[in-house]
Amino acid sequence: MVRALSTPADLFRAAADEFVRLGRAAIAARGRFVVALSGGSTPRSLYSLLAKDYADFSWTRTFLFFGDERHVPPDHPDSNYRMVNESFLTKVPIPASNVFRVGAESPDAAAAASDYEGKLRAFFKLPPGEFPVFDLILLGLGPDGHTASLFPDSAGLEEHSRLVIANWVEKFKTHRISITLPVLNHADEAMFLASGPDKAAMVHEILEGNHEPPYPAQLVQPDGKLVWMMDAAAAAKLSHRLT
Ligand code: 6PG
Repeated sequence: MVRALSTPADLFRAAADEFVRLGRAAIAARGRFVVALSGGSTPRSLYSLLAKDYADFSWTRTFLFFGDERHVPPDHPDSNYRMVNESFLTKVPIPASNVFRVGAESPDAAAAASDYEGKLRAFFKLPPGEFPVFDLILLGLGPDGHTASLFPDSAGLEEHSRLVIANWVEKFKTHRISITLPVLNHADEAMFLASGPDKAAMVHEILEGNHEPPYPAQLVQPDGKLVWMMDAAAAAKLSHRLT
């Protein structure tokens, strides 16, 4: 499903409504709502809106993981955890034990990745070889077609058994800790958020292009539902009108 909303405010309202709708359904069906959050700058407005208008949501039955993290401590300006904590976690009554942060302060990114994989396996009580099924995975889109921290031409795209990897990102000369494609593709729902004119060219490439090899964001084809939510500026280069 691809939706284009007129303004960024409409986009984040629609995304918040979808988050809450999915959450209520998951809690009604399974007693809990398990989400992997995205980082970067785009979702901050969603997190702020959830904190402002949905404080009465069932946060005690909501469990939050991170789809990826930069290899920095949690108080670093580039930390996804810091962004989520400031815009969201400090403003809703979610138990700290329901939030699973990546230990990215560890000097050893591979160790941080396997530690986080351990947290996922323990939480989902996964037998060997099985993958977690998130109720919702939030994703962003980089101008180069990356999502989570799966960048074009990075080794992480070839990972098919592990849940979390330390992915070397040549252009940033650093590792990023990221959940892998198999985890993304076992999701009940994967929702991409794209906002602004800077995203229009890549949104067009992802949804209407046939780039070889496919961009990382094109490799996200979940077993469940794939949702693209964007504002009009991000949808501007799409050839057909969207609802
Ligand atoms: C990250 C993200 C990354 C992000 C895109 C888009 O840690 O940076 O998880 O995948 O979603 O880079 O970033 P913006 O939303 O800042 O454009």
